[in-house]
Amino acid sequence: MTGMFDMTTERVDQLDAEARRILRLNDRGGYTVPTAGLYPYQWNWDSAFAAFGFAAFDIDRAWTELETLMAGQWENGMVPHIQFHVSDPGYFPGADVWGTDGAVGKGEGRVASSGISQPAVAASFAWRIYQKDPGAGMARLRGMFPRLMAFHRWFIAARAESGAVAISHPWEAGRDNAPDWDEAMAGFEPEGVAAYTRRDTGHVDPKMRPTKADYDRYIWLVQFGRERKWDDAAIAAESPFRVADPTLTFTLMRACRDLARIADALGEDRTEIDGWITRLEAGAETLWNPDTACYDSRNLRTGRLAGCVTNASFLGWWGGLRDGQPLDTLHRILAAAPYSVPSYDPTSPKFEGLRYWRGPVWGVMNMMVGVGLAEAGLKTEAERVRSDTARLISEHGFAEYFDPHNGTPAGGGTFTWTAAIWLGWASPNAEEL
Ligand code: DGY
Repeated sequence: MTGMFDMTTERVDQLDAEARRILRLNDRGGYTVPTAGLYPYQWNWDSAFAAFGFAAFDIDRAWTELETLMAGQWENGMVPHIQFHVSDPGYFPGADVWGTDGAVGKGEGRVASSGISQPAVAASFAWRIYQKDPGAGMARLRGMFPRLMAFHRWFIAARAESGAVAISHPWEAGRDNAPDWDEAMAGFEPEGVAAYTRRDTGHVDPKMRPTKADYDRYIWLVQFGRERKWDDAAIAAESPFRVADPTLTFTLMRACRDLARIADALGEDRTEIDGWITRLEAGAETLWNPDTACYDSRNLRTGRLAGCVTNASFLGWWGGLRDGQPLDTLHRILAAAPYSVPSYDPTSPKFEGLRYWRGPVWGVMNMMVGVGLAEAGLKTEAERVRSDTARLISEHGFAEYFDPHNGTPAGGGTFTWTAAIWLGWASPNAEEL
C-alpha cells in the first residue's frame, strides 16, 4: 500500500505506465495533441502541461514541447491558443475560419494559428523542468527566456488594462463555457454568423459540451477578431465581450514569479518582471467578490462581478498570494462534493455535473489549486485535492474531466494533460513539487 487511499504499488506503477503511454500516443513529433479526434492540434496550455508530464521521464522531450510551443509566437509576443501544424477536417473552427494570415503581429512564415492566447503557464513549467536538471536545461532555458519575456509583456500590454488579465474570447480563459461569462455572452446577439457545422459533438456526447447558444457566440467572436485583423487594440476597444478572469490573472502572476526566478538563475535583469507582478497583485484585488467571499470574474463592459464560485476562484495560492485567501469558501466547496474541486459551485442552480466547465472536475486546475495550497502550508486541503484527483484517475481513467458527485469520466479519453498531472503531481510516485 502506498498510504494514499487503497492503491497498491502495483496499481500505481500500472497507472504511471499508462500515463507515459498516453503522452507517447498523443506525441505528434515535437508537439502533443490533447487527445486524438476531439483536439487534433497543439493547444497552448495543454502543451505546457504536456511538457511537465514528459519531464517525469524524458526531459529532452519536455524541452522540445515548450520550444515548439514558443516557436509559434507572433511578432507581437502573443503565443496563440492553437497551432494548426496539420490540416484536420475533423476539427472546427480550423485555420481558415480564424484567418490569421496577414494579421497584425502575426509575422510571415509562422505556423497557421488561432488569433487568441490561453493561460500563460509555460514559464512556470520551464522553471520546473529546468530545476529537475539544471545542467541539461540551462542552455534551453536561456534560449527560451526572451520569448517568455515577450509573451508576458504582450499579455500585460494587450489584456491587462484593468490590472487583472482580461479575455477577449471564452476560449482564451481555457474555461470555455464557465458561467462566469454568461452575462457578457448574453450582452450581444451573434448576428451574421456564417453557417457552420460543429465537429466537437461528433466526438463527444453533446450534453458534455457547450450549447449552441454558446457556440454561435464563440464563432461570432472569432469573426469579430478576424474582421479587425486580430488587432488587439481595436478588439479591446470595440468588442462587446471583455471579461477580467482569475485564471489568466493568477496563472500569469505565478508565471511572472517563476520568470523572475529564471531571470535570477540566468543573471538577467528582473526589474520589468517585478513591475508586472505588482500590477497583477493590484489587479487581483479588483476580482475579489465580498458577496461570495472568493475571486470572481468581472465583466469589463458593465463593471459587474459574475457572482460565480469556480475552481479558478482558488488559484490565488498558486499565484503566490497568502493573505486574505478564500479558505472558508474552499471548505464549503470541498464539503459540497465527494470529488474536489468542481469547476462550478455544486449548490448553485446553474451547476451541471457533466457539462465541461459548468461543474466537472479538471485535473489541471486541481494541480494548480493543490500545489498552491501545499505551498501555503495548507496540508490537509492540499492532500484532499491531490488524493481526490488520484482517486478519480485510478477509478475512472485518464479522462478530460469528471463529474464531481460520482466521478463519471467525461469529454475526451486518453487525455494528455490528465496523464501529465498524474505523472508530475497526483501519482504517489511523483516528485514533491
Ligand atoms: C474547443 O474547440 O472546444 C476548444 O476548447 C477551443 O479552444
